[in-house]
Amino acid sequence: MIRFYTLFYVLLALVYLAPKTIQAKDQKYVIGFSQCTTGDLWRQTMQRLMEIEISFHPDMQLVIKDAHDNSENQIRQIRDFLKEGVDLLIVSPNESAPITPVVEEVYQSGIPVIVVDRKVYTDSYSAYIGGNNYVIGKEAGKYAVKLLNGKGKVAIIRGLDGSSPSIERNKGFIEVLSKYPTIQVTASGSGKWNRDGAIQEMEDICRNQTDFDLVFGFNDVMAIEAHRVARENGVSGKYFLGIDGLPGEKGGIKAVLDGSLDATFLYSTGGEQAIQVASKILHQKPFQRDIILGTLVIDSTNAQVMKLQTDQMELLQRKIEAQESILDIQLSKIETQRLILFYTIILLALIVILVFVIFGAFQTKRNANLKLRKYNAEIEKQNEAIREQRDKLVEMSGQLQEATHAKLQFFTNISHEFRTPLTLITGPLEELMQSGNFTPGQQRRFKLMYRNSLRLLRLVDQLMDFRKLENRKMNLKATEQDLVAFLNDIYESFASKAEKKNIKFRLNSLCTTLPLWFDQDKLDKVFYNLLSNAFKFTPDGGQISISLGNPKPATSPAFQEEVEIEIKDSGEGIDSKYINRVFDRFFQTEKSHQFKGTGLGLSLSKELIELHQGSIRVNSQPGQGTSFFITLPLGNTHLNESELIIDGAVSAPPQQKEMADETLLPGAVVGKNITKGENRPIVLIVEDEADVREYIRSCLGGAYRILEAGDGKTGIQLVEENGPDLIISDVLMPKMNGLEFTGQLKSDIKTCHIPIILLTAQASLEQKLEGLKEGADSYISKPFNKQHLLIRIRKLLEQRSNVREHYKKHLDFINEEENINRLDKEFLAKITNIVEENLNPDQLSVEELGEKMGLSRVHLYRKVKKLTDMSVSEYITSVKLKKSLDLLVNSGKTIAEIAYEVGFTSPSYYTNCFKKQFNLSPSEYIQKKRKIVNTYK
Ligand code: FRU
Repeated sequence: MIRFYTLFYVLLALVYLAPKTIQAKDQKYVIGFSQCTTGDLWRQTMQRLMEIEISFHPDMQLVIKDAHDNSENQIRQIRDFLKEGVDLLIVSPNESAPITPVVEEVYQSGIPVIVVDRKVYTDSYSAYIGGNNYVIGKEAGKYAVKLLNGKGKVAIIRGLDGSSPSIERNKGFIEVLSKYPTIQVTASGSGKWNRDGAIQEMEDICRNQTDFDLVFGFNDVMAIEAHRVARENGVSGKYFLGIDGLPGEKGGIKAVLDGSLDATFLYSTGGEQAIQVASKILHQKPFQRDIILGTLVIDSTNAQVMKLQTDQMELLQRKIEAQESILDIQLSKIETQRLILFYTIILLALIVILVFVIFGAFQTKRNANLKLRKYNAEIEKQNEAIREQRDKLVEMSGQLQEATHAKLQFFTNISHEFRTPLTLITGPLEELMQSGNFTPGQQRRFKLMYRNSLRLLRLVDQLMDFRKLENRKMNLKATEQDLVAFLNDIYESFASKAEKKNIKFRLNSLCTTLPLWFDQDKLDKVFYNLLSNAFKFTPDGGQISISLGNPKPATSPAFQEEVEIEIKDSGEGIDSKYINRVFDRFFQTEKSHQFKGTGLGLSLSKELIELHQGSIRVNSQPGQGTSFFITLPLGNTHLNESELIIDGAVSAPPQQKEMADETLLPGAVVGKNITKGENRPIVLIVEDEADVREYIRSCLGGAYRILEAGDGKTGIQLVEENGPDLIISDVLMPKMNGLEFTGQLKSDIKTCHIPIILLTAQASLEQKLEGLKEGADSYISKPFNKQHLLIRIRKLLEQRSNVREHYKKHLDFINEEENINRLDKEFLAKITNIVEENLNPDQLSVEELGEKMGLSRVHLYRKVKKLTDMSVSEYITSVKLKKSLDLLVNSGKTIAEIAYEVGFTSPSYYTNCFKKQFNLSPSEYIQKKRKIVNTYK
């Protein structure tokens, strides 16, 4: 494409420059011709001859300025030529003297000057062309003498006196006449070369009655006028002579033929010679500087021949001119054709280029089309594949939908089936609880069973409600009731729970009554769900409120059209990344405790509110709390007739209220029944569900001292304070989940020895692995078997005690023992090293050892005790004893020496300690060892 534009611009330049180039070729030399006058035939003949001649020199152009017989005019015009920058100047001076300086000026400026006819008084010119006027004057004198037979009177009419031809002609003529004393010049005056001048002179002669036989006019114009004036004055029989001898009607030849003149002397104009010389000068060719033109007398003897000749010449000239004009036409035609040809060629070239470009573009387009077609085919193929996949997907999704539907149907059916057995459980349980024949422990267990059966029933109901909503079988049964009273009932049902958790629980209402059309059962579920959540996530001492207000400002037209209820808690809040999904069905997060459960509650609440043509939204600040806003329309125009129950109120199902009151809530530390100094192992249960905690506690019975925590953070606190022997922890919990909890304990030297059992409902393999990775010692899935849990606890505690026993006996850890944490092994190795390096009894106190180990005295004690079942000082002693064993057998030193060497204050104290540790004395040990050695010898 770039190439095309380049070519295009080159061609444009050609089109623009071509005519200019042609013009440049036609560039002509400009010849300025300063003519003294153009008013007479001679001058016109001169110019005509010049023009004829110049037509043979196409590179020259003639520009004529007429001075009108005025020398000043002529000087100015010559200067103009100089300014215009002519290439050459031809000048025919009006008068010789005044014109001379300007001719010199031009010549000296470097412009060639050709002087014609009249002369200048300088050599500063390039060439001169003209007749010999002195000779002509003489010839005329001789002719006059002949005519007058040497006797008579002569009148002279001269030209302009300052012009050279007049002076020279006069000189030659007078010279000849002076030789004849019988010839007398009776009159002589200047006719200034023109008719008027001649007329005036001749009329003077006639008026003065000056006698004359012959009149000599210095040119034919003046001579012919003199003859006419004489005849008009009645003078005849006189001779008249002229100069120029021009052809044509007003020329001298005709005047001779018609008898006006007796003779005329040919005086050539030199027009053609002037152009020829100019051409030579301009083309720097050699030329003759002075060309003197010849003369000849024309009288009755040759005038006819001359006339014929000049007529012939004139005819020829006319023909030449006609041909020239034809030639000019032809030339201009040729020129036009040349231009047309040039432009045609350019056009053709353009067309060729254009054809190439179009062809190129066509080719490119064709290639692009081919590519496009290929792509299209590929896309079509892909589309086909996509269509197939889509169809398959549609089919699969259909199948999936069917399967989901079938599954959900199954769930619904089975849930429905659960209702009967659950009712058969709750009923008898209620009876049993009311009978009052059981111990408080048994009563507690009944209550636990009852609460959880109700919970199951609620979940089953939720599932069924959800299905109903999905199948559009959930109908609203709205009655007009007092919303304030309704909310107050709900508030009351949660009040005791708030009291137990020390939660500031409020109901704020702008009005005392507010009639509202709603389905009590459905709103009950919604508020129960929202408040249960609020209580679940609000810590002890927190705040929960139910506020009834109008969402619109009083100025809004919607004021009084709807009501807004806010349920606000100061709980842990919802992470902003989940906030938009809280109302999604089955929404649960992987790790967060916030959405532990079925994921149905909030979704169901939303649908139930929307069934009332209302809306629900949530606002939450993690760490600060959550607010749910429910908006419900006032009046009943937004509800269908079928949704309105005009008579009778529907009472709230009692179970919801009961549950709200009875459900035990998760909390921080809820149980701490350990007594110091007891031997029973301490087990810490970390679990957010109070029921589950209670159940585990009841499973463990009285064999352990139990500590309880509702979340990981509290769990850590209890571990630090009490150093439990074993921990049972849930995974999904608020504040700190079980995995983080395990990780933190297992990476801390103070706590890494405590066995941890992770207990969770989410029994996926992945989660098990994750738990084990964090260092959990065991993983038990919910629902768990009580025996299984008890055995695991026992086994883990036994493992720890075995290790301790082993250490006690062998004073060494079994390296391959997998149940011992790597950190613990490193801990004992380090402590042993420190003791061995500081065997001197004064050198190492328990405090110093703790400092070196980076532990407080209490923690060091607890750690050593748990690992070795020894106190720190017992452990130090045991290290020393172990060190002495080798010395006893191999050093050859005495027992006393060895005792001091390993850091005992006296050999007897050493022996005592040794006996206590190994149940034999050092000497007995030596003997025993030697015996063994001897046996193997
Ligand atoms: C024309 C003319 C001629 C004459 C010549 C002399 O102007 O008068 O007739 O021969 O000039 O310069």
